[in-house]
Amino acid sequence: MSSHKRDWFSNARFGMFVHYGAYAVAGRGEWVLNRENIPYEEYTAKYVEPFKAENYNPREWARLAKRTGMKYVVLTTRHHDGFALWNTQTTDFNAVLLGPRKDLVKEFVEAIRAEGLKVGLYYSVADWHHADYPYAYCRDWPEGWSDEASKHRFFAHYTAQLKELMTQYGKIDLLWYDGCLPKPTEGREINEWIYTVQPDILINNRNGDPYDFVVCEQTIKPAEPGIAWEACMTLNDNWGYHSGDHNYKSAKDVLGMLIQIASRSGNLLLNVGPLPSGDIPAQSVEILEQVGRWLTTFGEGIYGTERSELMWNNMSQLTIKDNRLFIYFHNDPGNEFCLAEISNKVEQAYYLDTGDAVSFEQHGNRIFLRDLKLDFSRYLIPCIVLELDGKAAPARKAEGFWIVD
Ligand code: GLC
Repeated sequence: MSSHKRDWFSNARFGMFVHYGAYAVAGRGEWVLNRENIPYEEYTAKYVEPFKAENYNPREWARLAKRTGMKYVVLTTRHHDGFALWNTQTTDFNAVLLGPRKDLVKEFVEAIRAEGLKVGLYYSVADWHHADYPYAYCRDWPEGWSDEASKHRFFAHYTAQLKELMTQYGKIDLLWYDGCLPKPTEGREINEWIYTVQPDILINNRNGDPYDFVVCEQTIKPAEPGIAWEACMTLNDNWGYHSGDHNYKSAKDVLGMLIQIASRSGNLLLNVGPLPSGDIPAQSVEILEQVGRWLTTFGEGIYGTERSELMWNNMSQLTIKDNRLFIYFHNDPGNEFCLAEISNKVEQAYYLDTGDAVSFEQHGNRIFLRDLKLDFSRYLIPCIVLELDGKAAPARKAEGFWIVD
């Protein structure tokens, strides 16, 4: 069997994104400094120093991630505000000298690894706190460097930070870049260096070539076939903790996204924004636990699925793995469902939760599933498996889909 450093990622399907930092104290999202034009002195006094992380226990995060069915966890080691959560020599604006007064990244890496999950570090190349970053309070992202010298100093700063992150904590499985520097993106040199010290690491595409996977944010946009991809999503409407944001997705919403992503062999990186204490908000935990319970029964058609080109129907979403087709019902079809999507012969049909047979009849590419007893009172999204004579093959030719741009 061929093994590639990307294999774990291609099978993982589900990871936890953690946006954690001093901004949690403000409780108004991770962009608060920039959005509210908060001077650094005020930010430090009001948010950084009172950030104590008193219940910081990444082991708990890791256990929750595992119960949720997640395979990796990605922590914001430094967001755009520039506050580094690790023991860095590059700046005094860090969690060892201010606020929590400990190396949060070290504890994170150890905890995630101890629970057998893959370790991901988020790192924002943008750093509002650094004197050479063009403009902390810019509308979105700065367009140019003030001069070549400040650009060079800034590059020296951020690459020194990455060197610490990549050498101080043992094996890191994934590096998740974010934040913008004036274009063009010039990550090549540092990424190539990172591969020399972390040969198995997977790097996302937000700092340019070379990279291992592409990301889409708050949308599901599968990459071209053959390219590993991940969609990152908030659980409510914010990444960092926001005390007024109760607009949570339901467990069913999350599962709907996860199934859709699994059908195109991507991963879902689902965010939580812990409270300043380090506790994950109770409502987030509740949703994740529900998702995890569902995955215990129905995960077979989620993990390790292959990319399918099958099309939509308004009852279910389809995933494929070897010679099996998983029909995940987000709507109740009543007692009969007709699938007209594949050209294969069906050999068996059964409920994924019980293994009980489902009666079916096949007329060409119309497959009728009969006398259905899908238990929507018990399961958010029940599932029927079809065992086929081979890999599911679309019954219809793929054609354009008319959508107004
Ligand atoms: C955006 C935001 C940032 C967030 C990230 C997650 O780039 O600037 O706050 O961390 O998206 O993908």
